[in-house]
Amino acid sequence: MQYTSELESTIQDMGQKGRGVLAADESAPTIVKRFKAIGVESNEENRRAWRSLLVTTTGLGEYINGIILFEETLSQKTDNDNTIPSAAWAQGIVPGIKVDKGKIPLALSAGDLITQGLDGLAERLCDYRQQGARFAKWREVYAIDKHVPSKHGIEANAEMLARYAAVCQEQGLVPIVEPEVLMDGDHEIDRHAEVTEAVQHAVFHALRRHHVQLELMILKPNMVLPGKDCRRADADEVAAATLKVLRRCVPAAVPSINFLSGGQGPEEATVNLNALNQQAPDAPWRLTISYGRALQQPAIQAWQGKKENEALAQQALLKRARLNSLAQLGQYHPDMESSDA
Ligand code: 13P
Repeated sequence: MQYTSELESTIQDMGQKGRGVLAADESAPTIVKRFKAIGVESNEENRRAWRSLLVTTTGLGEYINGIILFEETLSQKTDNDNTIPSAAWAQGIVPGIKVDKGKIPLALSAGDLITQGLDGLAERLCDYRQQGARFAKWREVYAIDKHVPSKHGIEANAEMLARYAAVCQEQGLVPIVEPEVLMDGDHEIDRHAEVTEAVQHAVFHALRRHHVQLELMILKPNMVLPGKDCRRADADEVAAATLKVLRRCVPAAVPSINFLSGGQGPEEATVNLNALNQQAPDAPWRLTISYGRALQQPAIQAWQGKKENEALAQQALLKRARLNSLAQLGQYHPDMESSDA
């Protein structure tokens, strides 16, 4: 492989215990939803202002080692006229980029979904690399219902993830491989575990078929949870169910597992991460974050689209980043939520 040493150094830069990834790569329709909740219009300037605020939060690099950006953000500037990727680097945060083009129904397979974006991917990655991106992210989505995801759907999605990951490694970007089994629905935690296990098995088989080097990738999975409309599970139950699946599916060669938050509340996502690390202090992989909503939600609430709220928003982001850092060490306690920082 042409870029092995570059990939190794990116993995190293994103590899310290106690640090994780901030997902700030909401697609156009998703950021509209996030902004609508605070009464802010999603125009280019507002998106720039929000993402500039995130990346220029002083001290963020202590807890965050990577940021996933959306395509337009790569060329946008901070209020100080740096590009957003260079502002990230200035804090020791590696910039990366979401490269999939979103999900559509899988043809002739009712209820299954598939993600688009492989055509022309190598050329796009080459451009993104020149703009400073060092890793990429691709998300496949699996909804749970009585008959889905189907075996065929699981295999088709695994194939997409593996093809994407192979192109990334060939182009010198570390792939974040994200198979997200949604928590929408009223399924029990056991059903979520069963589907997550089938999905992850298929993904790792496909990665092997496509010659993807496991040491040079990051897995971004869901935690194993009951459906949103089912009874809640406590953190110990979530951690045990999640670890059981990961131990069955994820080879020890994978250096880092960076969970998505997937609709968990900010505190819930931190409590669950802490339990995972407490239950598996010697896991072969780092158990860390690639949270979007669970890191950004309190900050965007504090911001409300107003310049005068920027400092408060940054404080809220830094607090979540710090508490999740403690959770990666298994040293978080809910009492810490009420302290100032
Ligand atoms: P959430 O943590 O909000 O699920 O977002 C992470 C992400 O990048 C989804 O693709």
